[in-house]
Amino acid sequence: MKVKGIHYRSLWWDRTAQVLCIIDQRALPHVFRVQPVATLDDFVQAICQMRVRGAPLIGATAAYGLALAMRLDSSNEALERAHTMLNETRPTAVNLRWALERCRSALQPLPPGGRAAAALNLAHEIADEDVAINRRIGEHGAALIRDIASRKPPGMPVNLLTHCNAGWLATVDWGTATSPIYQAHDAGVPVHVWVDETRPRNQGALTAWELGSHGIPHTYVADNAGGHLMQHGQVDMVITGTDRTTRTGDVCNKIGTYLKALAAHDNGVPFFVALPSPTIDWTMGDGVGGIEIEERGGEEVTHVQGRAGDGAVATVQVTPDGTTVANPAFDVTPGRLVTGLITERGICAATEAGLAALFPERAAA
Ligand code: MRU
Repeated sequence: MKVKGIHYRSLWWDRTAQVLCIIDQRALPHVFRVQPVATLDDFVQAICQMRVRGAPLIGATAAYGLALAMRLDSSNEALERAHTMLNETRPTAVNLRWALERCRSALQPLPPGGRAAAALNLAHEIADEDVAINRRIGEHGAALIRDIASRKPPGMPVNLLTHCNAGWLATVDWGTATSPIYQAHDAGVPVHVWVDETRPRNQGALTAWELGSHGIPHTYVADNAGGHLMQHGQVDMVITGTDRTTRTGDVCNKIGTYLKALAAHDNGVPFFVALPSPTIDWTMGDGVGGIEIEERGGEEVTHVQGRAGDGAVATVQVTPDGTTVANPAFDVTPGRLVTGLITERGICAATEAGLAALFPERAAA
């Protein structure tokens, strides 16, 4: 998508320097900073520190990390070591595991001398596939938005609410939850987006930055505002992303998503989840009981980062010294609260039968 009129992906391969370029998302929305990532340690740090974040982007980044590790040492031991180190960076988003397994199983049978080139090709393939998947999610989701628009007085915007950043920054391009919004807007459907701030890390600010760059009308709201907006008929549809969805349709996403789903259910507001197929965990049936929820550092809760009056980016403490905090980063919305899953193959019910009908080959495996 575009930044000041120039098209960017959230990562790209620099052929001259032979490094991966990423956008440091810790600095956004205030500073647009591109960084090279070259060594395995750099990749591990980039994911752990959330310079890159969002389930599909973490997966694609890890594939490049494995590829660059293979350039230095392509032995079986080095492959296992890189796989383990990258796999341990973040526990919840299943795309990380999916991408690493895909790379490892393709590389293991190859002679070590052929691994580095094959791994880089595979990383490019995973990145390109992500873009294609998200584009198709956008086409299916935009049809839902058009349908809502057709039932409103002409010119009245469709009001969408989204949580966290499931935008192009969280993927390689387009985003998942935002792809339908971008495509509806580009097709001339009037839209307006309520953007949840998404404490503690305020990924909503990334969404606001993206939407603003694309000229999409939006309003930034505190996380607690969604229920009120829904009670007053100001939300036509909720659309979020997901970090892992079970084969039974339970949706794990950024902390606070579950509360939005409950409010949507209580108010008869459709709650859709944009779901690329690599985010489906076919091994898991019970999301609430089974998915490991990442517990992050307490300073994300006790402190906030923002731009100070002098223009410098600063971090300030909001709680009393020594306050005990907990910081679960994700929650699980049971499939029964989800109106539908928007995948690259179409929209289905958030149930085992719904997903199996769209992905019969995966469900059978
Ligand atoms: O902790 P983050 O910022 O990596 O969490 C991201 C989310 O929860 C997104 O909603 C999810 O990855 C879907 S991204 C297309």
